[in-house]
Amino acid sequence: MGHEPEASAHDPLTALLDGVRLRLRDLNDGEPASYIPELGRVDPRLFGLSLCTLDGQVYGSGDRAVRFTAQSVSKPFVFALALADHGLENVLARVGAEPSGEAFNSIRLEPGTGRPPNPMVNAGAIVTSSLVAGDTQKARFDRILDGLSAFAGRPLTVDEAVYASECATGDRNRALAYLMHNAGSLTGDVEAELAVYFRQCSVLVTCDDLAVMHATLAGGGINPVTGERVVASRHAQHVLAVMATCGMYDASGQWMLRVGMPAKSGVSGGIGVALPSQFGIGVFSPPLEEKGNSVRGIAACHLISDQFGLHLM
Ligand code: DON
Repeated sequence: MGHEPEASAHDPLTALLDGVRLRLRDLNDGEPASYIPELGRVDPRLFGLSLCTLDGQVYGSGDRAVRFTAQSVSKPFVFALALADHGLENVLARVGAEPSGEAFNSIRLEPGTGRPPNPMVNAGAIVTSSLVAGDTQKARFDRILDGLSAFAGRPLTVDEAVYASECATGDRNRALAYLMHNAGSLTGDVEAELAVYFRQCSVLVTCDDLAVMHATLAGGGINPVTGERVVASRHAQHVLAVMATCGMYDASGQWMLRVGMPAKSGVSGGIGVALPSQFGIGVFSPPLEEKGNSVRGIAACHLISDQFGLHLM
């Protein structure tokens, strides 16, 4: 893992990423997540940035190849797989598409239906992960791992230590899942559904992977590196729309105001950004602000959006 000195720029995009990273690497606010104990063991100085264009070129800077668990950055991609397996209307019958205005682990479900507010918060993601096709817990997780790997364009693996750590301490998610089971929005065996969700959060990715995964969404569901169609373009569009409104939790409004691109963050410090028809970005830096988003990740996306006038509006 390199905290290398000044990187030399070989091309304008690498120069841009190097410039952003060097400008922000001494921003030392925030703390890595520790409510999943294994995540607290990370080196807080790690900082990587990658960008993948729709012609399949991947540019990066810093700790772009360091592996970290995807956590909530997995949620848009599992939502995409649930859409592919059931279609929008059937998925919407089980999970809403409205920003909650609350924290990612909020316990509030929709009155009457018991639906979670959207697929980007924990409750919604537990439901979308349960909707991915597969007769057994193993078959469902295999489809999720294969799907995430197709988005990334390489075979991904699971960090078993983080998985075990979250299984052992994930009582809030357990409480949410039991509430949803009682309300009828989560069917099946609660512990088995939770195991699939915890495993999906523990899939290891790099900044380069996140850039390619988000470029796949930005490119209408075709992975620009492998050329494989991973999901239908209308499903990629649905995912981007929900990322735009709900991807940064109760910071989603501020994010859209200042950065103006669909994005998703995770508590391990990853942020993925997709600019439709343009590119995907992956950022990794573990210290988080109070809402669970990477401090340097947010700042990097602000800078990139400002410098290039990328705001969609
Ligand atoms: O379920 C959890 O709490 C974690 N596995 C994922 C949460 C997360 O990444 C929220 N993101 N900011």
